Amino acid sequence: MLPAYIGNMIPVFVGGGAPIDGGRNWKDGRRVLGPGKTWRGIILGPLVATLLVGILQYLARPGTWWGGIYPQWGPGWTWAVIVYALALGALVGDATKSFFKRRTGRERGERWIPFDQLDFVVGSLVLGLLAGALLQLAGATAGNAFLDVFTWPRVLVIVVLTPGFHLLVNWIGYKIGAKDVPW
Ligand code: CTP
Ligand code: MG
Repeated sequence: MLPAYIGNMIPVFVGGGAPIDGGRNWKDGRRVLGPGKTWRGIILGPLVATLLVGILQYLARPGTWWGGIYPQWGPGWTWAVIVYALALGALVGDATKSFFKRRTGRERGERWIPFDQLDFVVGSLVLGLLAGALLQLAGATAGNAFLDVFTWPRVLVIVVLTPGFHLLVNWIGYKIGAKDVPW
């Protein structure tokens, strides 16, 4: 789940600027997505995440002293497609959550447990699954490379552990001054 975690974290540092909703309001008079969802975040997040995962994967390649610790996301170049999709999915899930968060009248940064903690996991898994299926359809992989990594028991562990982990990471982010709120 590292691509989703990194992808979701990068915008906190590189985000800002033009909002995806262009500042427009929905029929209810509230922002469509809000000022916290920016183009810079959703474009740079997945790119930087793919780059960082690629570097980690290279450092932990078989034969190095911590070789084999890091999983291979797909054969050959296909790992990059899966990782990019996982990270982009995290931010698409996050933005989708913000849409519904605004519809319930919650402002940017307001707390909405457990949706704030799981939005990016759901989005990531959905887009990852799609990318795996597309690679298989295109003949780039024999099976769905996503399903090789994300078995049901693993998905269950991810869904159970992520909310606590997310709250902890955001609390640290708040303490070091990267985030405005501790959740
Ligand atoms: N961010 C961004 N672009 C995105 C997602 C996030 O620039 N697509 C940045 C914003 O600066 C945002 C921060 O990352 O404030 C934290 O993200 P998040 O907690 O998801 O956003 P919130 O500001 O809490 O907004 P919302 O209430 O809609 O979740
Ligand atoms: Mg938030």
